Amino acid sequence: MSVNASATVEPMSSGADPIPAPVDASQMGPADGDGAAPWWRRGLVYQIYIRSFADANGDGTGDINGLRSKLPYLRDLGVDALWINPWYKSPLADGGYDVADYRAIEGRYGDLADAEALITEAHDHGIRVIADVVPNHSSVEHTWFTEAVDSPKGSPARARYHILDGRGPGGSLPPTNWQSVFGGPAWHRLPDGQWYLHLFAPEQPDLNWTNPEVRDEFEAVLRFWLDRHIDGFRVDVAHGLVKDMGYPDLDNATTRMLASSKLPNHAHWDRDDLHEIVRRWRAVLDSHSGDRMMVAEAWVSPERLPLYLRTDEYHQSFNFDLLEAGWDAVEMHDIIDTATKAAANVGSTPTWVLSNHDVMRATTRYGLPKGTDWRSWPATGPHDALDVAAGARRARAAALLLLALPGSAYIYQGEELGLPEAWDLPDEVLDDPVWERSGHTLRGRDGCRVPLPWAPGGPSNGFGSGPGWLPQPAGWDRLAAEVQATDPASSLQLFRSAITLRRLHGVADEQLDWVTADETVLAFRRGSGLTCMVNYGPEPVALPPHRQVLVASAHQSRPDRLEPDTAVWLR
Ligand code: GLC
Repeated sequence: MSVNASATVEPMSSGADPIPAPVDASQMGPADGDGAAPWWRRGLVYQIYIRSFADANGDGTGDINGLRSKLPYLRDLGVDALWINPWYKSPLADGGYDVADYRAIEGRYGDLADAEALITEAHDHGIRVIADVVPNHSSVEHTWFTEAVDSPKGSPARARYHILDGRGPGGSLPPTNWQSVFGGPAWHRLPDGQWYLHLFAPEQPDLNWTNPEVRDEFEAVLRFWLDRHIDGFRVDVAHGLVKDMGYPDLDNATTRMLASSKLPNHAHWDRDDLHEIVRRWRAVLDSHSGDRMMVAEAWVSPERLPLYLRTDEYHQSFNFDLLEAGWDAVEMHDIIDTATKAAANVGSTPTWVLSNHDVMRATTRYGLPKGTDWRSWPATGPHDALDVAAGARRARAAALLLLALPGSAYIYQGEELGLPEAWDLPDEVLDDPVWERSGHTLRGRDGCRVPLPWAPGGPSNGFGSGPGWLPQPAGWDRLAAEVQATDPASSLQLFRSAITLRRLHGVADEQLDWVTADETVLAFRRGSGLTCMVNYGPEPVALPPHRQVLVASAHQSRPDRLEPDTAVWLR
């Protein structure tokens, strides 16, 4: 790999820059950790929301060729793999999670040849590529669905989806009281009077996973991409798929995905029968050469999660508890402790994430008062409660925490730039179905999907030659990657340093021993001897004895203390 990142190798002193001297590349271990563990166990994965990453053809939408042009940037950042959000043919009713053809690339992003070139070039840079699979639902524009609509009641084409008669006089009421995650009933009526199920937007009809044709088709789709050298899959709504075919009403119908997916014996979430499907997918992956992997997006209770990680099922499953936690030492300690033990019990490693394309960016989230519902805050306020500076400081400290934890870490495009949430985008540009489906009570997820600033100036700060599909907030020229690359105190340089140091000190083992875990301070030691310490409290705290400060999330005024809302790596 190539390293142009720099890292602190001097003891921290008053006035010391958090990120000085460069690391000697000859000291670097192999990108796969110690060589014994498969790469994904300790990998650093960079999430690409392709629509907003880089626009090569100037149409305002990110594309595969834009991504190809940024591969050297990603290599220099030091990531092991890319997870690319759905890039398939799609009307983009839900940002591409409404797939019209699982074997074709969306025209706005490029074509299959571009995708193949990207995979090859990424591999040439030593970067693996993970595709997103969306098995719970298709798009209404998938030929299976148009065929279902055009076919009579009771036909085999309708049996690929959940299409039922309604209740009440003339079947005018939905078949069940199930609610869509995006708001409103989960059923939509067809012109002939039957209803189809959509747990997400009406443009996303749920597939019927009891149908063998559906199962066979998805296995063929996985093979299609594995044959094109995809290294793994992120499986969307992995706790969905199977529904109770008796279609019972829910006792406690709720529109909240997190709440409803954690109820026991739920009619459409986390059902036992889904595991036999996962085992078949795993067999498909295992029949291909190389370290192919699957990571589950499963919003389930910590007791149920190990079921997804059995040795013949998923390799990994995202831990969303850390992302949901406030800036709180006790809460974060408990989550880290539980997750590391639970993963070790099933022979897996935790998969950490602080930001993604569905949640408010950490830089803004950590600036809100503890206990704020950040999903509704952009609509409800109070907006003067946001402490921008505290959020930025804490997000930098959280990055050092994330990158010091054992297991794998996922970072979301722009996280390395410390981008804030664009929570006050004008109403008329909002695109996320959540905005309409919630009756304008939730502003949705567009604020974390704004096109990236690459270089200052122009209509989109280097995202493309024209304006991006969402406008960037004022001041994003100063956050552009090119600007940050030359500023030693920037968020980008902090990430580069920490990622370099992580390879040296954080991936050779999976050990974590607590040094301090109290109301305001967390400190843990890794097997390599690296200690990560985070101060969540309002006062500076004393650092434990150490030989060297490897990196600090912010300038520290005294060498023996850790300032509030900051983190350091010691050895
Ligand atoms: C997942 C995706 C989200 C999408 C939903 C429906 O939660 O991360 O973006 O809207 O699934 O596919």
